[in-house]
Amino acid sequence: GSVPRLFEPVTLRSLTVKNRVWLPPMCQYSCFAGDGVPTDWHLVHLGARAQGGFGLLIAEAAAVVPDGRISPNDAGIWNDEQAEAWQRVVDFVHSQDAAIAIQLAHAGRKASTHPNFYGGPKGVIAEADGGWRPVAPSAEQYPGLALPAEMTKDDIAEVVAAFAAGARRAVAAGFDAVEIHGAHGYLIHSFLSPLSNHRDDEYGGDFDGRTRLVREVYAAVREAVGEDMPVFVRLSASEWAEDDWDDQGFDVEQAAELSALLTAEGCDLIDVSSSGNVPATIPVGPGYQVPLAGEIAATGATTGAVGLLTEANQAEQVLVSGDADVVFIGRAALRDPAWPQRAAFDLGMDWREAPYPDQYTRGAFRAS
Ligand code: FNR
Repeated sequence: GSVPRLFEPVTLRSLTVKNRVWLPPMCQYSCFAGDGVPTDWHLVHLGARAQGGFGLLIAEAAAVVPDGRISPNDAGIWNDEQAEAWQRVVDFVHSQDAAIAIQLAHAGRKASTHPNFYGGPKGVIAEADGGWRPVAPSAEQYPGLALPAEMTKDDIAEVVAAFAAGARRAVAAGFDAVEIHGAHGYLIHSFLSPLSNHRDDEYGGDFDGRTRLVREVYAAVREAVGEDMPVFVRLSASEWAEDDWDDQGFDVEQAAELSALLTAEGCDLIDVSSSGNVPATIPVGPGYQVPLAGEIAATGATTGAVGLLTEANQAEQVLVSGDADVVFIGRAALRDPAWPQRAAFDLGMDWREAPYPDQYTRGAFRAS
């Protein structure tokens, strides 16, 4: 039969990815030494999902400066030792005919917290216990977290330069693409939103001011990686602040306008997530963020959809409907590293077309 859309290749600049089933960035909080250097955990975690058939994997939020970590166990890309350790992961993923990007991140006012593990300690790590004072557009805390320091313009310029330096290290480590983390209430999102950005200089105020940081970061990253490498931006396309897309925060219309601007500047994909900047009641359900991706896709941007995509037919339908060009499978891939192989099986694909490494081809058959 014909190949499902999920398993059609996609080309972005000089990168061709073998399919459209991608792994979203997922923090593992497994840099146990607290030095931001990825460990064997990252090799096995990402390696298993490359074996499992994902076309492209986005390595978790990697901090571009130490203060930009969510927790002390976050990964980093702020020094060469980290980049060299990432290279080992990159090389293995490439050996599986998969591509790998890295998410460049700064946690902003949500920094200096415990790893987000169920059952573990929650909330702020105090400075006395190895935490640090977070930074933000304005000295306003996320409810329950630490009071951040308002960034000066010099601080902002340093962060922009740190994103570019992280991007250069990503190139050196062999990554195929980079993603700028502009979602989930971390630094860039907190600048985008009028709910968290109350600056009165050129980095705040109107749409132009609030989007200035992400536009500067995109331009600096593009300059750092050159014209061949795809650059993605992850956005929260709604804050769900009023249980509605049309909230008082950075809403879907602004996200669409920004996506169009970034696309015009050469951004290769908008990874459409939502929320995280303020506490909100989110109507979570199967594919709940797909309509947001559809709104962004309508601007002409290449998009990725994410959020409770768990079944092969459901994910296939997201692509067929035109709401997105690729799908990201997150938590379902924590349960099932070979989600793409299972999807190919469920969709009845010829095993020769499905993303099996030689070692796993016998998994394509119930018996024999
Ligand atoms: C995440 N998510 C996330 N998002 C992001 O942009 N950067 C990150 O580093 C992380 N870290 C992370 C860790 C873990 C353990 C989970 C479960 C999630 C969000 C993730 O990329 C995805 O958007 C959501 O999980 C929704 O997709 P699923 O899981 O419903 O497919």
